[in-house]
Amino acid sequence: MNIRALAAKAVYDVLERGVSLSVALPQQQQALANGKDKALLAEICYGVMRALPQLDNCVSDCLSKPFKGKQRIIYQLLLVGCYQLYFTRIPAHAAISETAEACRQLKFEGMVKVVNGVLRTIQRNETPLSEANDTLKFNTPAWIIKRLQQAYPDDWQAVIEQSHQRPPMWLRNNRRGQTRDAYLAQLQQADISASAGSSPDAILLESPKDVALLPHFFDGAVSVQDGAAQWAATLLAPQDGELVLDACAAPGGKSCHLLEQADINLVAVDFDEARLQRVKDNLQRLQLSAEVIHGDAANIDAWWQGNKFDRILLDAPCSATGVIRRHPDIKWLRKSQDIEELAQLQRQILDHCWQWLQPGGQLLYATCSILPQENAQQIQAFLERTKDATLLPIAQQSPAEIGWQILPGTQGMDGFYYAILQKSAQ
Ligand SMILES: C[S@@+](CC[C@H](N)C(=O)[O-])C[C@H]1O[C@@H](n2cnc3c(N)ncnc32)[C@H](O)[C@@H]1O
Repeated sequence: MNIRALAAKAVYDVLERGVSLSVALPQQQQALANGKDKALLAEICYGVMRALPQLDNCVSDCLSKPFKGKQRIIYQLLLVGCYQLYFTRIPAHAAISETAEACRQLKFEGMVKVVNGVLRTIQRNETPLSEANDTLKFNTPAWIIKRLQQAYPDDWQAVIEQSHQRPPMWLRNNRRGQTRDAYLAQLQQADISASAGSSPDAILLESPKDVALLPHFFDGAVSVQDGAAQWAATLLAPQDGELVLDACAAPGGKSCHLLEQADINLVAVDFDEARLQRVKDNLQRLQLSAEVIHGDAANIDAWWQGNKFDRILLDAPCSATGVIRRHPDIKWLRKSQDIEELAQLQRQILDHCWQWLQPGGQLLYATCSILPQENAQQIQAFLERTKDATLLPIAQQSPAEIGWQILPGTQGMDGFYYAILQKSAQ
C-alpha cells in the first residue's frame, strides 16, 4: 500500500477513533520495509496533526458537502494531500498522483476524480492558508489558547510557537556504564554532534539519530529521554538502601533512571498492564531490577503489604500539554473538560500516595503539563489541606513560583512541572 494511503489510515484512527498517533503510526509503519518511507509516513502524519485546522479549512472550502461515514477516510486522505502541497518539497504533480493512487488502494475508485479535482484546485489557487481566527492562526484549539492566555498572559504565543517546533533528541547517559564525558567522546568518535544538558546525565544531540547508530545503545549505554524528564531522578535524589515507589511508572524511563542513580529497592507500579511490559523491557535492556506491579496508585493497600516508602515519585497522568511538540495529536484528542477530571484524579492519587510516605520522606510530584490547574494550583491546594507537608524549593524555580514549571523549549527541553514535598518527621 502506498505511503499516502497508510497516512490516511493513521490520521483516520486518530481523528475518528481517538487512537493516539504513537499507537496508530507504528501500526501503519509495519507495512513499510524502508526506513526512508517510514520517515516520510511519520512526517506526513505529524504534519497533518500540527496544522489540522488550516488543512481542514482549506479542504472543506473545496467541497460542496461534507464526507460522512466510511468516506471520512477519503477526507483524511485529502488532508494528507493538502499537507504535502503546502508543507513539503514533494513536487505537486507527484503529491497529487500518489494521493489519487492511494484513493484507489483504499478501495474508493469512484472518488479518485474528486481527490484529483480538489488537490488540483488547491494547487492552482495557491491561496495562503487562512489565519482568519486564532484557532487557524495558531493551529491550536480555542480552549487550549484560552487556558494558555490565562496562565501566561505575556508568553502564551511563544509557548504555542514552541509547541509547533520539531523536538530535539535527548539521551540519558547510564552512569553505571560510563561517565557522561566518556560517552560524549564516543559520540564524537562516531561523528555524532552532541552537548551536555543541564541535568547531570543529559546529552542533547544536534540532530535526531536512529538509536542503532548510537554507540552501545543495545548494551544499555544510553537511553532516549527528554532533558526535562531527566530532572525527576535528580530532584528525588534517592539514596542507597531506600525503599522507593514509582507510582505511575510506565513505560519506565524514570524508574530506570532512579535505579541507575542509586542502589534502591524500587517498586514500579502502573494501572495499564500493557504499558507495564515496556517497563520490563526497559529494565531488561539496562540490566536493572525492580518489583513491577500492576496496580492502582490511588489504592496502594490493595497490592502492597510492605513498609511505607522513603521516597515516592508521582509522575501523574496529565493533559500532556507540555509535550505537544512531540505528540501534536494531543491537541485533538484532549478536550477542555478533561483538565478538571485529570486534576481530580491527580488529587486523589496524590492524597493516597502521601499516606504511604514515611514520616521525614519526600514525594516528587511531576507532570508533563503546562496548565496551572494540574501543577502549581494542584500543589497549593494540597499544601493547604495537608498539615504535615512542606514544599521544598528547587534551585531553578523563580522564588514566587510554587514548584518548578518548565515551559517547552526552555534549554531545548519539553514542558514539565516538578514540586518536591517533604513530610514532617513526626
Ligand atoms: C506520565 S505517564 C508515566 C511516565 C513514566 N513515569 C515514565 O517516565 O516512563 C503516567 C502513567 O500513569 C498511569 N496511571 C494513570 N492512572 C493511574 C493510577 N490510578 N495508578 C497507577 N498508574 C496510573 C498511566 O497508565 C501512565 O502510564
